[in-house]
Amino acid sequence: MSDIELKNLRKWFGQIDAVQDVSLNIKSGSFTCILGPSGCGKTTLLRMIAGLEGASSGQICIGGRVVDDPMQNRFVPADQRGVGLVFQSYALWPHMTVAQNVAFGLSLQRQSAALRTKRTAEMLATLRISDLADRYPAQLSGGQQQRVALARTMALAPKVLLLDEPLSNLDASLRLAMRAELAHLHRSFGTTIVFVTHDQWEAMTLATDIIVLAGGTVQQMGSAMEVYDQPANRFVADFIGNPPINIFPAGSLAALTLIPPWVSRPNSITAGLRPEAMDVIAQDGGAAGIAGALGAQVSALIPTGGSWIVEMVLNLGGAPVLHATTARPSVQVDQPVAIIPQASGVHLFAPDGQRLTILSPDQKEKS
Ligand SMILES: Nc1ncnc2c1ncn2[C@@H]1O[C@H](COP(=O)(O)OP(=O)(O)OP(=O)(O)O)[C@@H](O)[C@H]1O
Ligand SMILES: [Mg+2]
Repeated sequence: MSDIELKNLRKWFGQIDAVQDVSLNIKSGSFTCILGPSGCGKTTLLRMIAGLEGASSGQICIGGRVVDDPMQNRFVPADQRGVGLVFQSYALWPHMTVAQNVAFGLSLQRQSAALRTKRTAEMLATLRISDLADRYPAQLSGGQQQRVALARTMALAPKVLLLDEPLSNLDASLRLAMRAELAHLHRSFGTTIVFVTHDQWEAMTLATDIIVLAGGTVQQMGSAMEVYDQPANRFVADFIGNPPINIFPAGSLAALTLIPPWVSRPNSITAGLRPEAMDVIAQDGGAAGIAGALGAQVSALIPTGGSWIVEMVLNLGGAPVLHATTARPSVQVDQPVAIIPQASGVHLFAPDGQRLTILSPDQKEKS
């Protein structure tokens, strides 16, 4: 078992609180993505798990063993944590060929020559770089070097693989292929993978668990669908989803129509509506007459390759509303439309940004 447990973990650099009181459990065998904007503490968190950085306070356990606890004066160095690392800047040995780079860690582990050769060949094949075996790093593209770095780390079959934006240098199609490769490796070796990215699509498609980090604190941890369908707060709702969630500002009439009538203080509440969670119908006579519908006018139709974004301006004003659809839109630019929100795509947030779970009067009676 190689669960990773973080307890009240903090890291500060002088005045900067890079990681603030993070407590979470990364399950053995999971594929966990740490997702968040630039500077939110992702790399710092990963470096602490790896043992490249000591915690300022709190505790890290890997597989039940305390590997970092400043209070107990305990710190297990990186090379004794059974953890493999691939960072965005991958330092390959320039004087060694690709094959020698991949085999190097195995010789440090005093593996036999036969096993080194076999394992190296396997890893090169898996990462589709067998034909590059005799080249030197300087003769490779950035994406090829990144794959050598992955092969070198995975050859050691670490229990835990920590990846800090390992696909950042690859073009879109290679990224897609490598993503599939990582998912395959995860399935076949059962390695616990912790993967840092600021690309939410990458996180959504790869992860069994997503940790959303902002300002050094965990905003939410859950499956891709949990963070999308039940965002814990405004930050998560805004950050996850492309096109982003539509936010109807507090007090606007638009928000009022989305908020159930039994909510007592609608003026202080913000409503969010996912772009796919609405029906848009041509309504030349205006939205009047359709219960819960919002009148709007189409301002742009944006094709996004197999799907479309319909941009609309509400008759009530405010920010444009975006609707994402896989069906070719039947409405035209400048056409008046009615937006009919689907209840399942409506999210409500309290003034402090936290998600509001509102029970209907009959749910309240039952509870
Ligand atoms: N060695 C250091 N000394 C001082 N401040 C640091 C150090 N390392 C990181 N920081 C600061 O800590 C914060 C978190 O940095 P970190 O590198 O963990 O962010 P990140 O989420 O990985 O960002 P990015 O997506 O840009 O890689 C930032 O404000 C950064 O400037
Ligand atoms: Mg980083």
